[in-house]
Amino acid sequence: TMSSSASRDDVDAFLGCLSTAIPPSIVHTPANNSYSPLLLSSVRNLRYALPGTAKPLAIVAATEPAHVQATVLCGRRHGVRVRTRSGGHDYEGLSYASLDPHEHFAVLDLAALRAIHIDAARAEAWVESGASLGELYYTVGAASRTLAFPAGSCPTVCLGGHLSGGGFGSLARKYGLSADNVLDAVVVDARGRLLNRSAMGEDLFWAIRGGGGESFGVIVSWKVRLVRVPETVTVFGIRRFRNQSAADLVTKWQGVAPFLPRDLYLRVLLQNPQADFVALFLGRCGRLASIMRRRFPELGMTPADCQEISWVNSTLFVEFFTTDKPLDVLLDRSNKPDYYLKVKSDHVEEPIPKRAWEGLWDKWLDQPGTPPIMLDPYGGRMSSISPSATPFPHRTYLYQLQIYSFWFENGTDALEKRISWVKGVHKDLEPYVSKNPRAVYVNYRDLDLGTNELEGNVTSYEKAKVWGEKYFKGNFERLAAVKSKMDPHDFFRNEQSIPLFPAAA
Ligand code: FDA
Repeated sequence: TMSSSASRDDVDAFLGCLSTAIPPSIVHTPANNSYSPLLLSSVRNLRYALPGTAKPLAIVAATEPAHVQATVLCGRRHGVRVRTRSGGHDYEGLSYASLDPHEHFAVLDLAALRAIHIDAARAEAWVESGASLGELYYTVGAASRTLAFPAGSCPTVCLGGHLSGGGFGSLARKYGLSADNVLDAVVVDARGRLLNRSAMGEDLFWAIRGGGGESFGVIVSWKVRLVRVPETVTVFGIRRFRNQSAADLVTKWQGVAPFLPRDLYLRVLLQNPQADFVALFLGRCGRLASIMRRRFPELGMTPADCQEISWVNSTLFVEFFTTDKPLDVLLDRSNKPDYYLKVKSDHVEEPIPKRAWEGLWDKWLDQPGTPPIMLDPYGGRMSSISPSATPFPHRTYLYQLQIYSFWFENGTDALEKRISWVKGVHKDLEPYVSKNPRAVYVNYRDLDLGTNELEGNVTSYEKAKVWGEKYFKGNFERLAAVKSKMDPHDFFRNEQSIPLFPAAA
């Protein structure tokens, strides 16, 4: 287990240390009325808010980098671990909950550290980790109709976790991951130092662009490259049912979507008896329709399916499938579905045969109330970046696939039923998806892959390798080497943090 050694005295000493370094108004303990609402404010998976979940002994709501430095230093001095939370979207709640009921830890909440500065002339921006994707999209859109940032679809995801884990979205085929567009960053390391790119060095700068931030320090802010988009882009959503050849279309899609021009992103959501094809095209309707006619005539897309809008509006369409929402929805941080969540994901390297899709539909999908399976194409820029350029190694697959189960009912019956559904689909997919390893993207965190164990007082490398190679393949070793250098006492530790490299331990 991950058992931690902090005693009650350590905890008191930790709180005492904090009180000398940072304003008491931003330190929230269970004795404060503010504690529970703050803790829950960005919990996105109710499985990790159930009674019995280990909760932080304090939440520090940092408003300046100095608060982050003080929390890390007090934590190290008094043996209290720190979990950093930006947007709280971790699928397994690692930013605010511990699997070990005895672990004493504090949460460093960065939601208030969310300034965004756009330099439209240079097409760059500085953004703090607590800023959400929606806030960034909104601000970029307000600065220029022809600038954008490549990142994920959910507007409440925050940059701290997203950029440090990769960041995949509808511009990835053209511009790669969010992490591929990071130019600089400011990090608080395990010694409490505030380091920018030149001070931290290229190894740490490499690690925090896809290796998961939580193992290496606390990233306070990021300098990112903004990318060019046309003033008008085109979106469509087309629904086809099983009795309209949905299985044929999905089968064909696998050999089409990853090879389309980079300006075209075409994802599929499978749910119940239907397949929804959702597209973003960096261009006008006329060209899109002609590409679709040539490359995927079976879908039957016509100009009548097009909506021509600005890029910032397309971010709402990709998330909500409608162009009717006002742009301020992007700014709504409380736009929070209170659901329980379990996600498993895969990468696909050869098209899955039609009979397998029919089998999935018959056995799992074509029933009321079942969750979606989302297929997101790679190819384009994704496959032209070296697998070792960043810790994210999954560059050459056709597409990624997520089994995304969320539910609202309380209770263990619902929980067991929902989780066993996800596991059932995942098991049946095994023959068709990537092997050795069965590759997973770290931002789609899945604790079923394995969790850390201690060896002596540090995380076991051999045990961590089991889950680590699934996320990082050959980059895992280099991540461990960076960890050894930057955090030799293994202070930044959680259920799936990078271990020290054995030779250095
Ligand atoms: P959270 O605060 O939970 O952090 C996640 C992890 O990063 C934790 O381990 C945390 O400790 C660490 N961390 C956070 N901030 C840090 C910092 N400043 N310094 C160091 N470590 C830090 N992904 C994607 O690529 N494309 C997508 O479209 C989506 N869509 C999506 C929708 C929904 C509803 C959810 C719940 C999730 C996604 N994701 C996603 C996954 C998302 O990218 C992933 O969960 C991110 O890590 C979330 O970052 P947050 O800061 O919000 O989470």
